[in-house]
Amino acid sequence: MPKIKYIEHNGKEHEIEVPEGWSVMEGAVKNMLPGIDADCGGACACATCHVYVDDPAFAAKIPPKTDMEETMLDFAPEVQPTSRLSCQIKVTKELDGLVVRMPESQH
Ligand code: FES
Repeated sequence: MPKIKYIEHNGKEHEIEVPEGWSVMEGAVKNMLPGIDADCGGACACATCHVYVDDPAFAAKIPPKTDMEETMLDFAPEVQPTSRLSCQIKVTKELDGLVVRMPESQH
């Protein structure tokens, strides 16, 4: 199963095995990790599953943002060029080893 590393804003790391087909958001929420709220449950309608994908090699393996993701990210605080909505990142074998950082706040 692909392993995803989630890093909280305070630097605390969580390495989680996430089944293929789940979203990166689901991997966090179903393991009760702090830092990803996912208020809309993955419908790309809340922007509270905001993460940073800093490694360009992994960023290149994730499909580009849809217009809807771009629009929702406008509502997220602390947006950076590497910002993504984790509910829109589907876990695949290729994403084994992905590292995502969480922002200080989702609101
Ligand atoms: S969970 Fe709401 S936009 Fe991702």
